[in-house]
Amino acid sequence: MPSWVIVGATRGIGFEYVNQLSSDSQNEVFALIRSQKTAGPLNELAVSRKNIRVIETNIANPAKLKETAEQIGNITGGKLDVLVYNAFFHGDSGELTPSAFTGREEELEPHFFEPLKVNALHVIHTVNALLPLIKQGVEKKIIYISSASGDLEVTRIIELPAVIGYSVSKAAGTMIMTKYASELKEDGIVTLSISPGWVDTDASKAALTSPEAFTAMVSTLRKLDPNVKGMISPKESVESMLSVIKSLDKNNSGKFLSHKGNLDWF
Ligand SMILES: NC(=O)c1ccc[n+]([C@@H]2O[C@H](COP(=O)([O-])OP(=O)(O)OC[C@H]3O[C@@H](n4cnc5c(N)ncnc54)[C@H](OP(=O)(O)O)[C@@H]3O)[C@@H](O)[C@H]2O)c1
Repeated sequence: MPSWVIVGATRGIGFEYVNQLSSDSQNEVFALIRSQKTAGPLNELAVSRKNIRVIETNIANPAKLKETAEQIGNITGGKLDVLVYNAFFHGDSGELTPSAFTGREEELEPHFFEPLKVNALHVIHTVNALLPLIKQGVEKKIIYISSASGDLEVTRIIELPAVIGYSVSKAAGTMIMTKYASELKEDGIVTLSISPGWVDTDASKAALTSPEAFTAMVSTLRKLDPNVKGMISPKESVESMLSVIKSLDKNNSGKFLSHKGNLDWF
C-alpha cells in the first residue's frame, strides 16, 4: 500500500493532493495540518475515505515532528513512500521592490525571514523527521512544492522586482531539495522541486485584489508565455504534478520542473 504524506493539506493544492490520492483505495494518505480551524472539508473527506488520516503537527518543532513520524510509522510499519511538502508562507510587504525597503528596514526583516522559515528551514525539519521512514519506503520520493517565482530565469524574463521574501525563500527551498538529492542518492532516495502552475486557490485569490490586478498578472506572465490566459484548477495542476512525480527517478532527481514536467511554467 503506497503511503503518502501531504504537508499543508487543509486547502488549495494540498487538499487536492489528498483528494486525488485517496480516491485510490490502494494509497494510504497522511494529511498533515497545523490546526483544525480550516480543516472542515478535509475532515469531511476523511469520514468517507478510510485511507485518509488527518494529523495535527508543527513543522517548526522538530520534537513534535518526531512524534508525528512515530505516529505515521506505527501505522505503516515504519515506512513512507512519498513526502509532499506543500505548506508555505507568503508574508507581507510583497509589493515592495528591494530598494523600496530603504528606511523601512524593520519591515524588511520579517518580510525576508518569515517566508524563509516555513518555505526552507522547516522543510529541513520535516524531511529529517520523516527520513528514517522514507529510507524504508519503496518509492523513496521527496517532493517540494516550489514556485516559478523562485526561478532566476523566470524572474529575469517577467521582470518582477517585488515579492522578494517569498521568491528568495522558494529559491532556497528548491536548493535544499537539490542538496538532499546529492546527499541521499546512495540511499536510493530521489527529490524534486515542482511548480504547480498558476492555480486558482485562496492564496492566488488573495493576491488578486481587483480585476486590474488580474489583468496586470496576466500581462506579466505573458512576457514568459504569450499563451497564458489565467489560472488553472487545483484538479488540473495536481493531476499534472502526480504524473511528473510518477516519472521521477534518479535521472531527474534534484531538478526543478513545472507541473508539465519541463520548464514550461504556465
Ligand atoms: N496557487 C498558486 O498559483 C501557486 C503558484 C506557485 C506556487 N504555489 C505553491 O503551492 C503551495 C500551495 O499553495 P496554495 O495556492 O494551495 O495555497 P493555500 O490555498 O493558501 O493553501 C496553503 C495550505 O498550506 C497550509 N499551511 C500553511 N502554513 C502551514 C504550516 N505552517 N503548517 C501546516 N500547514 C500550513 C495551509 O493551512 P491553513 O489552512 O492552516 O492555513 C493550507 O492548507 C505553496 O507551497 C505555494 O507556494 C502556489
